[in-house]
Amino acid sequence: MPGTKKVFVKTFGCQMNVYDSERMAESLIPYGFSETDRPEEAEVIILNTCHIREKAVEKVYSDLGRLRQIKEERRKLGKGTIVTVAGCVAQAEGAEILARAPVVDLVVGPQSYHRLPDLVFRAQSESRRLVDTNFPEQDKFTRLPDRTAISPPAAGVARAASAFLTVQEGCDKFCTFCVVPYTRGVEFSRPVDSVLEEARALIRRGVREITLLGQNVNAYHGVGPDGRDWSLARLIRAMSELEELQRLRYTTSHPKDMSDDLIDAHRDVARLMPYLHLPFQAGSDRILAAMNRKHTVSDYRRLVDKVRAARPDIALSTDVIVGFPGETEGEFLQTLRLVEDIGFAQAFSFKYSPRPGTPAAKLEEQLPEEVKSERLQRLQHLLASQTSRFNEGCVGLTIPVLFERLGRHAGQIVGRSPYLQPVHATGARDLLGRIIPVEISGAGPNSLLGVIRAA
Ligand code: 5AD
Ligand code: SF4
Repeated sequence: MPGTKKVFVKTFGCQMNVYDSERMAESLIPYGFSETDRPEEAEVIILNTCHIREKAVEKVYSDLGRLRQIKEERRKLGKGTIVTVAGCVAQAEGAEILARAPVVDLVVGPQSYHRLPDLVFRAQSESRRLVDTNFPEQDKFTRLPDRTAISPPAAGVARAASAFLTVQEGCDKFCTFCVVPYTRGVEFSRPVDSVLEEARALIRRGVREITLLGQNVNAYHGVGPDGRDWSLARLIRAMSELEELQRLRYTTSHPKDMSDDLIDAHRDVARLMPYLHLPFQAGSDRILAAMNRKHTVSDYRRLVDKVRAARPDIALSTDVIVGFPGETEGEFLQTLRLVEDIGFAQAFSFKYSPRPGTPAAKLEEQLPEEVKSERLQRLQHLLASQTSRFNEGCVGLTIPVLFERLGRHAGQIVGRSPYLQPVHATGARDLLGRIIPVEISGAGPNSLLGVIRAA
């Protein structure tokens, strides 16, 4: 009886969480669930959480407060609700969540969500509160339902044109600020065949663009059909041969793993989009060393030169942290300087947030909040001007846009440029899922406006 019960999923954090949310919702479909965007009508409510910064964690607890009311309202109507905390907060805090938030029934980590249907069933039938944050001996991907056999969840876009696909997970780099090695575990690459099989299943659903995901995606070294380890570049080349898959992307990369064959792929593989997210985190060698980043500022500059030589129109994106413990004004200015010199199309910038259990959280020279806020403001001002400039530079060009969804206004559709900018245009619904040349007529701070030239 598919679709008689409802699951509501809210996703916090990164794209990998978006992917995990999809797979969690899908894993319940064979048990009669369909997805809803209304928590009030859901038997299972999942918050897929992020632990990367303190703010992300606070948001989860404030959402749990609201869910208490929903659960209580449903109880009055005689309906049960299993409130689940999944993701990285679940992994980091485990049973503590049950103690702090009595509304929660289930806590399930990012490496154990293949057991979700079983856990939901046990929580319902035994009225027990359960925690599963084990790292399994076998990878979860082999235990999750085959995506070919499962039609996509009902909520959201029924036939997504663009999809995420996790190929690598976890991290062995141990940047001193970062919780990822603790929440996602050690580095693991999925075998090539299993990635290709999932890609084919997505393509059969109408997906035309796949973003390969990994916390450290360019460290990918999955075992290939020939029994040897394949690099990300080799995987990309193989994927670019999948008919009907018109666009490929990957994220997030570490500068240390940006190998020559991957850079060559940006030159050779037409379907690999000209966009690279390459975090540099800080513009001072002393801070980079304290962060244990394993690269210097000049390594980063050289890398960017190489990538631009291979693919001159590539749009660069990055992550930056301000206010790492001990960061001086001079060192912060070096960050601004690097941003000015490189020129980013897009960037994500953060105030340093001490995370429990990480080495940097124990450093003495933690900076006052005001200093961090003030630096972030200056940095974001510069980054926003770069993004605007990049967007304005697209006006007048005709660029291929993959249309993905309806816009907010009637008759409007929204897609993505090769450079990942959202593009709004007037067009018919049947253009969704197609790549169409669009003449860019206007640019905003975060998106473009265009006119469809030919369909
Ligand atoms: N404080 C602030 N920003 C962080 N990031 C990761 N850990 C922290 C932290 N403790 C940022 C990094 C990373 C991005 C995903 O989040 O810039 O690349
Ligand atoms: Fe957040 Fe990192 Fe977990 Fe993604 S992997 S959800 S960014 S803590």
